Amino acid sequence: MEDNRVKEMLREKVEQIEAVLKIYLPAEEGYQKKVIEAMNYSLMAGGKRLRPMLMQETYKLFGGSGQVIRPFMAAIEMIHTYSLVHDDLPAMDDDEYRRGRKTTHVVYGEAFGILAGDGLLNYAFETALTALEDPDVDAARVGKALSVLARKAGIYGMIGGQTADIEAEDQATPLTGKQLLFIHEKKTAALIQAAMMVGAILAGASEEAVSKIEKCAYNIGIAFQIQDDILDVIGDSKELGKPVGSDEKNHKQTFVTLNGLEQSRKEVALLSEEAVAILTEVEGENTFLTQLILTLIDRRK
Ligand code: IPE
Ligand code: IPE
Ligand code: MG
Ligand code: MG
Ligand code: MG
Repeated sequence: MEDNRVKEMLREKVEQIEAVLKIYLPAEEGYQKKVIEAMNYSLMAGGKRLRPMLMQETYKLFGGSGQVIRPFMAAIEMIHTYSLVHDDLPAMDDDEYRRGRKTTHVVYGEAFGILAGDGLLNYAFETALTALEDPDVDAARVGKALSVLARKAGIYGMIGGQTADIEAEDQATPLTGKQLLFIHEKKTAALIQAAMMVGAILAGASEEAVSKIEKCAYNIGIAFQIQDDILDVIGDSKELGKPVGSDEKNHKQTFVTLNGLEQSRKEVALLSEEAVAILTEVEGENTFLTQLILTLIDRRK
């Protein structure tokens, strides 16, 4: 696929995903209006929408074509957005810009940064559960998808990774390779795994195929975080929509500080190619999905 064609498709797909998100946005009314405004502020601030995109494309890879995927696409973006809102809080990475705007806690105050994150996390599950309102839906698949989503977002997934990431700030000795991989796997790969696994599960993929997708998404996720660490050093804050140098400011040891830029770049390419290779082992084809994974290798935002 031509580069320009991929870019054009990416733009179209982001637009479609944002239209889906809008369907599920909570209405800004009532005595809880302020928290809902803060939730929608962060959710609609832009962003690459990578997780819902990977979810939808994996769903298509396995022949999925129904509407059941939509509330789950919105839900994964809500969970991801909550993780960013909390990640930026003064007690965590203490960052003032996100998605090209002032962070939620800067605009609405710290208490509302916390509450908006809580609100997004809970509303994600309220939203995903609406999938069951369709009488023709395969409830067993929805149940499995919910269970993966919950697990990968929690203490055995993203929250576990953020925990290890914050604790590691105070570690005087160099992180071991194992420790860093744990952090990357949990804080970042877990939600990417959830996105792709939910897509596969809702399309009716076999257990064997779902576990291949889990492995594929692991590679994408680790590569994605290494690239994020690279961009924190050499990226452009305007283009990124968030500050560079956040990791250094917080004394984070990253793949880049431990292995250098060149080795990091090589690793991103290697992991991404491995992800693409794993995809060829499952039945079905989605050339856009393959292109998307390869595009991430030299992403600049
Ligand atoms: C940022 O995620 C947090 C990481 C896991 C590195 P993204 O880079 O996907 O952020 P958005 O959604 O595009 O803002
Ligand atoms: C955070 O990693 C991953 C999350 C779970 C939010 P980072 O702290 O490096 O993400 P950015 O750079 O702030 O987006
Ligand atoms: Mg962080
Ligand atoms: Mg951060
Ligand atoms: Mg970062």
